[in-house]
Amino acid sequence: MKEVLLIITAYLIGSIPTALIISKKFFGIDIRDYGSGNMGATNTFRVLGSKYGTIVMVCDILKGLVAVGLYNFLPYYLQHGNSLDRTNLMIGLGLSAVVGHVFPIWANFKGGKGVATLFGMILAIQPIVAVSCVGVFLLVLYLTRFVSLSSILAGVMLPISVLWIWNEHEVLYRLFALLVAVLVIVTHQKNIGRLLKGVESRIPILKYRDR
Ligand code: G3P
Repeated sequence: MKEVLLIITAYLIGSIPTALIISKKFFGIDIRDYGSGNMGATNTFRVLGSKYGTIVMVCDILKGLVAVGLYNFLPYYLQHGNSLDRTNLMIGLGLSAVVGHVFPIWANFKGGKGVATLFGMILAIQPIVAVSCVGVFLLVLYLTRFVSLSSILAGVMLPISVLWIWNEHEVLYRLFALLVAVLVIVTHQKNIGRLLKGVESRIPILKYRDR
């Protein structure tokens, strides 16, 4: 029973609409009406600038970290059970927060794409895997300046990383990693459309490359 309550709590934490709160509080706007229409850190960077974008990014990552951290409130026997049970519970809590971020109860179920919260959750569960995904993200971002493409390829890196870096052969973990890769692709459908049409926006922060 306590597990269910914690999963719901993780969803509610993930649902906190950071970008919406910041855009409403400091600018009196709904971030979803501007830029890409996404309620996430990238669009906050784009519309409100790097200061607010950074705040949203940190908060959204923290949502994933804190949700997995709820694990510490589980009964002793679950916290100290076998490692498969433990990791499953952490994955359940983290995914619940990601679902909350994408479909936030506090913001009419119209949220972000879940990338920062996913990163926070993976960082809490398996930091080396998270770092490998960030490596791919930064490399693609440096080469292309498309945050969306960087996020998609970082998501695709996850199953590869689970197999090669984590060297994890548990079927459930592989399924989880595949699910995340699919989730990232699904939440980026509009971006993929824009990338294919050649109209996706690039981050302006590296504009020196245009000179
Ligand atoms: O994490 C979201 C990012 O990959 C794309 O955001 O605003 O360009 O759709 P955006």
